[in-house]
Amino acid sequence: MAILVTGGAGYIGSHTCVELLNSGKDVVIADNLYNCKKSSLDRIRALVSKDFKFYECDIRDAEGLQKIFDNEKIDSVIHFAGLKAVGESVEKPLEYFDNNVNGTLVLLDVMRKNNCKKIVFSSSATVYGMNNISPLTEDMEVGGVTNPYGRTKFMIECILKDLYTSDNDWSICLLRYFNPIGAHKSGTMGEDPNGIPNNLMPYITQVAIGKREFLNVWGDDYDTPDGTGVRDYIHVVDLALGHLKAVEKVEADNGLFIYNLGTGIGYSVLDVVRAFEKASGVKIPYKIAPRRAGDIATCFSSSEKALKELGWKAERGIEEMCEDSWRWQSQNPQGYPD
Ligand code: NAD
Ligand code: UFG
Repeated sequence: MAILVTGGAGYIGSHTCVELLNSGKDVVIADNLYNCKKSSLDRIRALVSKDFKFYECDIRDAEGLQKIFDNEKIDSVIHFAGLKAVGESVEKPLEYFDNNVNGTLVLLDVMRKNNCKKIVFSSSATVYGMNNISPLTEDMEVGGVTNPYGRTKFMIECILKDLYTSDNDWSICLLRYFNPIGAHKSGTMGEDPNGIPNNLMPYITQVAIGKREFLNVWGDDYDTPDGTGVRDYIHVVDLALGHLKAVEKVEADNGLFIYNLGTGIGYSVLDVVRAFEKASGVKIPYKIAPRRAGDIATCFSSSEKALKELGWKAERGIEEMCEDSWRWQSQNPQGYPD
């Protein structure tokens, strides 16, 4: 039996596929290649001992998905496919609701028709909204999100909870990611954003290779130790290993499970800049700029529930996250080849 990985050619999906395949699981990837390069699939192949099937398929295409279920023995789904740029979602809300929410509805309907009722979903710490105080625990009220991207994650969580209530044969795991950074140790796989990066680490690595002049630090007047925003950065390989545990959980038990995937530790923007400079030996010039709309001061997880119930905890520290991000960026200045 195989795991269908939607969005498996993207940043987190590709790292997860490496860990799934190396643990002996059968994997089928479905991706429409909207936000990735096909060459990421070759990079996965080079790191694993076992092959996998790839379908160029949009999750909104029910017929395309049905063909995958006809051809393969799919037992469970890890659902990464989605659009993820907060700013873009404000400009293009309809595209975000269509791709993320409608795409998930189409996927769930095809799964139900094929009696496949096990799913792990990529949610986000963004569902905790602006008002909860860190460390964030899974039992806190969610909602109050400030942008269309975040709302798609919140809405999909609601849909999956309602689905489980309607039919307890489903087994559903909502994974709330904190801030994934880092790259595979080999330096052959990593994050490859289009255009100007929104997120901190890819921006820093592009400054380091000389693609950008300096980093804008969005605000130094927050109520945090050095005034800059504090986040829970997690190594993408730790995140990938969390998916292995989560898929084993939905394979073993029925239920609706919710876990934070974070380290439980918060670092400020300037902490990350310093850690990166130490790991790379490259100075990162920065300027303090006004706060970015929608940002909160502090966001970090409680990671106790995932440890208790999945036996998972993040093992890789900030130094390793920075070293691995730098190895990827310096060895692949243009990202993945076309
Ligand atoms: P990514 O863009 O690198 O990967 C997503 C993949 O999904 C891409 O390869 C893209 O081509 C594919 N895709 C998008 N829409 C599709 C569709 N309709 N049909 C088929 N494939 C489609 O992003 P990522 O960072 O790997 O994120 C994976 C998931 O995790 C996303 O759902 C994202 O919202 C969520 N997430 C990411 C972060 C983060 O900081 N990276 C944080 C929290 C949650
Ligand atoms: N930051 C800068 N300069 C930059 C980029 C970011 O100072 O050029 C700061 C931000 O203000 C924030 C911190 O660095 O304090 C982290 O910002 P990111 O954009 O890297 O990450 P966010 O915490 O804002 O959001 C990310 C994802 C969201 C996801 C959220 C929680 O982008 O999609 O983590 O998982 F919802």
